[in-house]
Amino acid sequence: MSSTGAHDPEPLLALANVESSYGPIKAIRGVSLAVRPGQIVTVLGSNGAGKSTILKTISGIIDPSRGSITYKGEKITALDPSLIVRKGISHVPEGREVFPLLSVHDNLMMGAYTRHDRDGVARDMEAAYGYFPILKERAAQDAGLLSGGQQQMLAISRALMGAPQVILLDEPSLGLSPKLTREIFEIVVRINRERGTTILLVEQNANMALNVADHGYVLETGRIVMEDSCAALREKDDIKEFYLGKKDEGVRGERRWKKKKTWR
Ligand SMILES: Nc1ncnc2c1ncn2[C@@H]1O[C@H](COP(=O)(O)OP(=O)(O)OP(=O)(O)O)[C@@H](O)[C@H]1O
Ligand SMILES: [Mg+2]
Repeated sequence: MSSTGAHDPEPLLALANVESSYGPIKAIRGVSLAVRPGQIVTVLGSNGAGKSTILKTISGIIDPSRGSITYKGEKITALDPSLIVRKGISHVPEGREVFPLLSVHDNLMMGAYTRHDRDGVARDMEAAYGYFPILKERAAQDAGLLSGGQQQMLAISRALMGAPQVILLDEPSLGLSPKLTREIFEIVVRINRERGTTILLVEQNANMALNVADHGYVLETGRIVMEDSCAALREKDDIKEFYLGKKDEGVRGERRWKKKKTWR
């Protein structure tokens, strides 16, 4: 790779002006973002902002109507989802979507369906069981019998079985207790640090996401309205008030909310 000096490394994954719709509903409206190798990048946004749509568009489940997606300098826009998995991008969908009638073990094997390196698959399964020992205990049990938190662990592990360089992680905290959410985020950070896996995390739980991620974007009704390092985002008043729920400004904060229509 040619170096241009003191600049950031080239993005591993980048979106440029991506627009995606469901029929007449435009869910994302010109989203551009960059994820650099080894980073955890988060997209924050409330219900319906378009977070899941961003991930579905990257993984090829939805084809965008405009814009492009680049991975390792190559355009992957609207490729077949299985090709995108093969290239090293695994998606952990919202709501886990494990196969309830398959065993935990077989769910993990489904995550490796694009691979032929048996030894590598066996190694990655042991690694997943290392991160989430409960899954090893339950290996033979139907996944549908797992708790919500355990299913989330399984969904993350299934993504790991694709030997990804990038994991697209859709609201892992959904429906989980704060304690379990913390535990799962700890493992996500370990996966990032120990395996060098790059992570694009979308979350409503801004508190958690801003603590684990390096860089963050704020998405509102399909548009990115703010971008910064997570350290900087944590200090912004707008973020404190509306995403971290710190209403220490009382009435003044409320007035500001009424005055401000957008984040800019
Ligand atoms: N299958 C679908 N058909 C029609 N509209 C959809 C579909 N999925 C999402 N939408 C709409 O697209 C917009 C963005 O939805 P998306 O699921 O990406 O939001 P989100 O940020 O992930 O929200 P949440 O935090 O609730 O998961 C919303 O207006 C939503 O109603
Ligand atoms: Mg969603």
